Amino acid sequence: MTTKWVIANWKMNHLRAEASAFCEAFRADYKARPGVEAGIAPSFPLLPGVISQTETTGAKVFGQNAHWEPKGAFTGAVSMAQLKDAGCHGVILGHSERRQFFNETDDSLVKKLQAAWEFDLLPVLCIGETLTQRDAGFTLDVLRQQLSVLERTGHGPLVVAYEPVWAIGTGRRADATQIEEVHAFIREDLWLTFGDAGREIPILYGGSVTPDNFEEILRIPHVAGGLVGGASLEAGKFLRLLKQAQESN
Ligand code: PGA
Repeated sequence: MTTKWVIANWKMNHLRAEASAFCEAFRADYKARPGVEAGIAPSFPLLPGVISQTETTGAKVFGQNAHWEPKGAFTGAVSMAQLKDAGCHGVILGHSERRQFFNETDDSLVKKLQAAWEFDLLPVLCIGETLTQRDAGFTLDVLRQQLSVLERTGHGPLVVAYEPVWAIGTGRRADATQIEEVHAFIREDLWLTFGDAGREIPILYGGSVTPDNFEEILRIPHVAGGLVGGASLEAGKFLRLLKQAQESN
């Protein structure tokens, strides 16, 4: 059984008081069960509070990005070493918002993946096509290209998240057929790159996941959970998503 993940990607949301209230509610109600991992990815200033407040719950805390260099003259950047030192379990890499607004490239992702492994962080590599690319019939070519960074990195623990760009924050999620086709393609690609180890890499779906559609998404082959933005900002919804993941096992 592949572990299922529900990872809350808070993006640039929540002030300390809101994050603290979330963690209080989460801590009061979350019951960890084998086979499901809860992840929370807050912005950097919130990390210490979220890490200390969720310590007893077993939830894993993730950075939303990090630089590949361990330290140095990179004003405004945060290193993998610093994330690890803060108590993070992993780091989201290659989110489409990073690719779109911050010029994230495949070359930088190769270095970031290697740095994450060097500092014992679990990377969540995000991939996904834009609507123009999907409409032009290039979805699988785009994903193949984005996955090809893994041929240059060597091996390490990994989670992949398929997030069609047109489904992120739009309320328009991919349908079951689209998700099934893409997840099967990703599984095959990971198997070609990593051999049998590629069969065990969790592949998450992300893009307008809510408690209303998650049960259906979880039933699709090769879907090992969700990377969730908007619906993860409220503890109640995040807890419901985790319960659905637990019940799907
Ligand atoms: P969304 O965001 O759930 O708000 O669509 C998902 C993501 O960007 O990870």
